[in-house]
Amino acid sequence: MPIRNRFAQMQEDITAWRRYLHQHPELLYDVHETAAFVVERLKEFGVDEITPGIGKTGVVAVIKGKSDTKGRVIGLRADMDALPIHEASGVDYASTVPGKMHACGHDGHTAILLGAAHYLAETRNFDGTVVLIFQPAEEGGAGGKAMCEDGLMDRWGIQEVYGLHNMPGLPVGAFATRVGPLLASADEFEIVVTGKGGHAAAPHEAVDTTLVGAQIVVALQSVVARNINPVHRVVLTVGTFATDSNASNVIAHQVRMKGTVRTLDPEGRGLAEARIREIAEHTAKAYGAEAEVIWTEGYPVTVNSAEQTGYALEAARAVSGQVDGEAAPVMPAEDFSFMLQERPGAYIFLGNGEGPMCHHPAYIFEDDAIPFGCSWFAELVERRMPLGAG
Ligand code: NI
Repeated sequence: MPIRNRFAQMQEDITAWRRYLHQHPELLYDVHETAAFVVERLKEFGVDEITPGIGKTGVVAVIKGKSDTKGRVIGLRADMDALPIHEASGVDYASTVPGKMHACGHDGHTAILLGAAHYLAETRNFDGTVVLIFQPAEEGGAGGKAMCEDGLMDRWGIQEVYGLHNMPGLPVGAFATRVGPLLASADEFEIVVTGKGGHAAAPHEAVDTTLVGAQIVVALQSVVARNINPVHRVVLTVGTFATDSNASNVIAHQVRMKGTVRTLDPEGRGLAEARIREIAEHTAKAYGAEAEVIWTEGYPVTVNSAEQTGYALEAARAVSGQVDGEAAPVMPAEDFSFMLQERPGAYIFLGNGEGPMCHHPAYIFEDDAIPFGCSWFAELVERRMPLGAG
């Protein structure tokens, strides 16, 4: 097993950190204790610089290599937040906070990056600077964006950025990624159709928003079927449909529906928004009603740059015998995408073995994946910024 021996030695410590974080999950930007734990560990390792409070509760730290002849700076990122899920994993180190759980393995990501930081601060076998990025609010709060807006990339001179995520279903220690789109964008829309309520027996005196809304739901599927280039992937789902009436003999005055658009194609994203607005507004008008479309931009497509994906794969192959460089993209969204919009970089999946998917109450992070993740970060740094290459 070509993981670094040092990480095999450190696995017990890193696993203990991971399980401590697992017992104390925090949500969104409210990751004060987690961030404090990260800062404490980083101080113990003797990193060169620690700056908390970036992107509200994110932590940025710096480790300088033995030399710096080329001025290279690499960012390594982990997410710290948990989910509002009641844990049902049955592990003996389960969440101590009812209704909160590290069900996406961000406790594992944080512990892995801490492990890598410990090693890099101890060895410093690289020519350049490593910037450690511990971000809050990955789960729907756009913490990655908040850190970027706080000047993360420019302030620390980050030139390229890398991150990993555990992946249930992929064997433990296996890696998978691809050049280009890896995770989808996720936007939300709400459509409010206003007509004229009335008696169910007198439709001619009303404008039936249930009928109009239903026509809009059907017509929206033509966006994917008829507007999007068929070689691109777009999913459009209407998830809720609510009338303002609860009675069988009333024509609803107003209908509200909410949905989501996910795509791996940044162009398709803009097209979908434009078509949803047109279809909703014009369909409503055709029936004498009005539709208002509220569009909420979510996470962008996570797009890996070609060159950096090459480095990510090279490091993965040095660490593991199971590396897939042409993984299929997946439709969840990830806010590392905001960092990849600012700098080239790569995101990689690390196998978590068999078991429930992320966001499931019985999900369990696989601690045996830790040395692979740590070794990947270390290989990446030492290969991308080799000593004596100046
Ligand atoms: Ni996650």
